[in-house]
Amino acid sequence: MEMRKVDLRSDTLTLPTENMRKAMAEADVGDDVYGEDPTVRKLEELAAETVGMEAALFVPSGAMANTCALLTHSEHGEEVLFEERAHMFVWECGAFANVAGLAARTIKAKYGVIQPEQLRRAIRGDNVHFAKTTLLCIENTHNNYSGSAWSLTQLKSLSLECKKQGLKLHMDGARLFNAAVANGITAKDFGEHVDSLMFCISKGLSAPVGSLLCGDQSFIEEAYRMRKRLGGAMRQSGIIAAAGVVALNQMVDRLADDHAKADRLVKGLIELDGIAVEKPPISTNILKVDFSELGWTSEKIVCAWKNNGILCNPRPPYGARLVTHRHIQDDDVDYVLARTKEMVQ
Ligand SMILES: Cc1ncc(COP(=O)(O)O)c(C=O)c1O
Repeated sequence: MEMRKVDLRSDTLTLPTENMRKAMAEADVGDDVYGEDPTVRKLEELAAETVGMEAALFVPSGAMANTCALLTHSEHGEEVLFEERAHMFVWECGAFANVAGLAARTIKAKYGVIQPEQLRRAIRGDNVHFAKTTLLCIENTHNNYSGSAWSLTQLKSLSLECKKQGLKLHMDGARLFNAAVANGITAKDFGEHVDSLMFCISKGLSAPVGSLLCGDQSFIEEAYRMRKRLGGAMRQSGIIAAAGVVALNQMVDRLADDHAKADRLVKGLIELDGIAVEKPPISTNILKVDFSELGWTSEKIVCAWKNNGILCNPRPPYGARLVTHRHIQDDDVDYVLARTKEMVQ
């Protein structure tokens, strides 16, 4: 079998489509700090409408959108709750603490889906010794639980519990559209049950840059100030926003293809002796593959696959993460399965 390159490190590797490049080249732009970029307005309005919220703010990255949300919802010294493996808690340089000045506690939840009962148990009564808990952040899909998506029922019941407990609810929806497509619902269905959410256009949707923070009008007005504080105000950002408009209009439904390819990978890999694959109840485009039965470390897996032209990210001690995306074709999946079979035999 001829050697090929199959890059499964991340869906952030997707390149802009021809339609995006054309839209970027032709974008009507102005200085967005003066509020004069019509393409940024168009993207923000489209984003708000798509998730069924009053307003949206275009920011350079998912991490900045999340940090703006923390700064807007919470006061310095308050406490925020995260799922134990959440991106916002583990992978964003501790911004909740060193930028937003918040204390944090975590909840360990199966496949990243926090149950109302777990939230009830995590809430401590009003006590002068404790930081005040004011916000819960959830992740949908959950990156570090094999792209596990929440069901609408799960979100609804947690959202109700947050209201009972007087907590705001923010959703890190970096891959919100994967979650919606996997559930056969729209992003709006999710948007109805949270106080704010962010989604990235730079992941499976294939735009080159950016994320949208969404919420009600007053939340977004304050978040606008926080974006400025973080140095995220941009000028002729309509150039990149133009790709975002294409992403939302043209790239959502095709995420189902990425899920189908991930599913084929799962089915093929679990056939191989010694390999286990984590399979969340609602799966999307991320797989965590485990080689512990073979005693292969993450380093060894990454290296063995790399020698076969297959790129992935390590998930120590014995795992690796594979992510399907627009540049992965069916014959790439066949190739990975065939090469992996040879590798472990
Ligand atoms: C779940 C989740 N949230 C937030 C982010 C941050 O996005 P960005 O890389 O655009 O800052 C990522 C990035 O991979 C992510 O997977």
